[in-house]
Amino acid sequence: MTRRVLIAGNWKMNLLRAEGEALAAALAAKFTANGSADMLVCPPATLIAPVAAMLEGSMIAVGGQDCHMKESGAHTGDVAAAMIGDLGGSHVIVGHSERRADHGETDATVKAKAEAALAAGLIPIVCVGETEAERDAGKAEAVVETQIRGSLPEGATETGVVIAYEPVWAIGTGRTPTTDDIAAMHDHMRTVAASMLGGAGELRLLYGGSVKPGNAAEILGLADVDGALVGGASLKAEDFLAIAAAAG
Ligand code: 13P
Repeated sequence: MTRRVLIAGNWKMNLLRAEGEALAAALAAKFTANGSADMLVCPPATLIAPVAAMLEGSMIAVGGQDCHMKESGAHTGDVAAAMIGDLGGSHVIVGHSERRADHGETDATVKAKAEAALAAGLIPIVCVGETEAERDAGKAEAVVETQIRGSLPEGATETGVVIAYEPVWAIGTGRTPTTDDIAAMHDHMRTVAASMLGGAGELRLLYGGSVKPGNAAEILGLADVDGALVGGASLKAEDFLAIAAAAG
C-alpha cells in the first residue's frame, strides 16, 4: 500500500489573470517532485486555461472548484466536468462547504456532480466536514459518515476519488482540530469508505482548514492523512511550497 501525498490548492474566488499566471509560474519554477508528494492547483474556472498553460511541463496538476451534474445543456453560468478536462484539468473539487452553504448543495447534488466528474474522466475531490455546533454536540463523526455515504459517487474506485475532510469551523479561521481529532476522523472516514468501496488502503484522504506552513508537518505526519486541501495559504507561492515541502 503506497499512498502518495496530494497537496491541493483551492484558490476559491480569488486572483485575476495576471496574478494567477504569476502564482502558477512561481510554483512551476520551484516545485520539483520530491518523490512522495503530488501538487494540484484549483483556480477559478476563468483561470484554468491560462494556469494550465503556465504549468505545462511542470509536475503540477490543475483542476476545477466545482462542476455541474449534467454533461451539457441549458444551465447558464455553470461549467461541465468535460469542460474542465478540455482545458487540461485532471481533478475537480465537489461539495465544498462553501458551495453546500452558498448554493444549497445536498449530499445527493454532490454525489451527482462527482459522478459527472468520473464520467468525464476527472478525479472528484469530495469535501465533507462538520459545523462547530455539530462538533460541540459530539456528532462530528456521524455527520461526516452521513456525508460520505451520501456523496461518494457510484462507480468510484479507491484511486479514482479523493475525500477531503474540512471542518467548516476550521476554514479560514486559523483554528484546527487537535491532531488526535483529525487522526480519529480520518481513521473513521477510511473505515466508512472501505465499507463502500470494498477497501480503502489506496484511497487518499486530505485534511483542509487553516493548513499553514507552521502546522503542515504535524498534520501531514498523521497516519491516515494523505495530503491537504489548502485555501488561503495556497495563494502565496512561498507558503504553498513550504506546505508541500512539509510532506517530506
Ligand atoms: P483555508 O486554508 O483558507 O482555511 O481554506 C480551506 C479550504 O476551504 C480549502 O478548500
